[in-house]
Amino acid sequence: MKVGVTGGAGFIGEHVCDELARRGHHPLVFDHKGRHNPPHPVMLGDARDPVAMAELAAHVDGIIHLAACLGTQETIANPRPAAITNVEGGLNFLEACAQYNIPGVYIGVGNHWMNNTYSISKTTVERFAAMFNKERGTRINTVRLVNAYGPRQSVAPPFGPAKVRKITPAFVCRALTGQTIEVYGDGQQVSDMVHVMDGAKALVTALEKAAQSIVFDKVVEVGPAEHRTVNQVAQEVIAAAVSLDYPAVNLKHLPMRPGEIPGAHVTADTSTLALVDMSADTLIPLRDGIIHTVDWYATNWLPSYRDAA
Ligand SMILES: NC(=O)c1ccc[n+]([C@@H]2O[C@H](COP(=O)([O-])OP(=O)(O)OC[C@H]3O[C@@H](n4cnc5c(N)ncnc54)[C@H](O)[C@@H]3O)[C@@H](O)[C@H]2O)c1
Repeated sequence: MKVGVTGGAGFIGEHVCDELARRGHHPLVFDHKGRHNPPHPVMLGDARDPVAMAELAAHVDGIIHLAACLGTQETIANPRPAAITNVEGGLNFLEACAQYNIPGVYIGVGNHWMNNTYSISKTTVERFAAMFNKERGTRINTVRLVNAYGPRQSVAPPFGPAKVRKITPAFVCRALTGQTIEVYGDGQQVSDMVHVMDGAKALVTALEKAAQSIVFDKVVEVGPAEHRTVNQVAQEVIAAAVSLDYPAVNLKHLPMRPGEIPGAHVTADTSTLALVDMSADTLIPLRDGIIHTVDWYATNWLPSYRDAA
């Protein structure tokens, strides 16, 4: 299949394109961000533009819609950019799939019940997708990832230019540069971690199923069988860095940020993985995934960071 991947130049998008190519599909990245020497063909476009999305749908056999404005805390003070990108972009994706009668996959978030702009806007489109399937006969499957981690996730200040701070690069960059890891709240909140390659597999299989007119009556949730607290994730990062000969660093706790709920449990209903022919016990174990990720940042991020310092 030729598959349009909106947000295909982003963290999850790149891994989805790689997984599509591994399975013999042909990814076409649709993103408003260009890149030098892209590994896959690119159509530059904005998900907020219904004509551009329809144009994409006209050229592919299916779409995986990942383009979004992220950030749980970052989108509270100014909700409009995320609300518009995520909701209008989502509607444009659904309309384009309906117009060209092509299968689609929508990505949802693990903290879908939280009242922050990001969760509200992402989850609104899950509900629109259910409406489109029921009322307009579309074939859209939805896959929720909890906290995705792995190589190539962008890095926020002071370590890089990303606008949104994600837990894994934040911890890894501090561990690799000998700095105390900062944990918001008491760190007892549970945030299931899913390796991005497992997430990509679930998303691609969900599209293959939709192409066979298998439309799930549930949202697929990708996450591990065993839950870990944020403190435990931080300890895994420290242990992985030590195993790669970096000195052990400490943890410190900062006040919780707005938009998050202290002690929240963001977990996945892993029974839904059967819909995409997966099960929690076959996912990449957290320890292996974190070692692989820390190793990737040590090789690919740390040298340029040191050069720039
Ligand atoms: N990272 C996670 O832990 C996680 C978990 C669950 C769901 N998701 C979802 O996965 C998707 C991808 O997340 P990511 O972590 O790869 O983020 P990312 O920021 O790395 O990628 C998002 C991509 O979307 C593009 N984009 C943003 N607005 C656009 C627009 N208007 N038009 C075209 N392209 C646009 C960006 O340029 C970027 O390449 C998002 O929908 C996000 O909500 C992420």
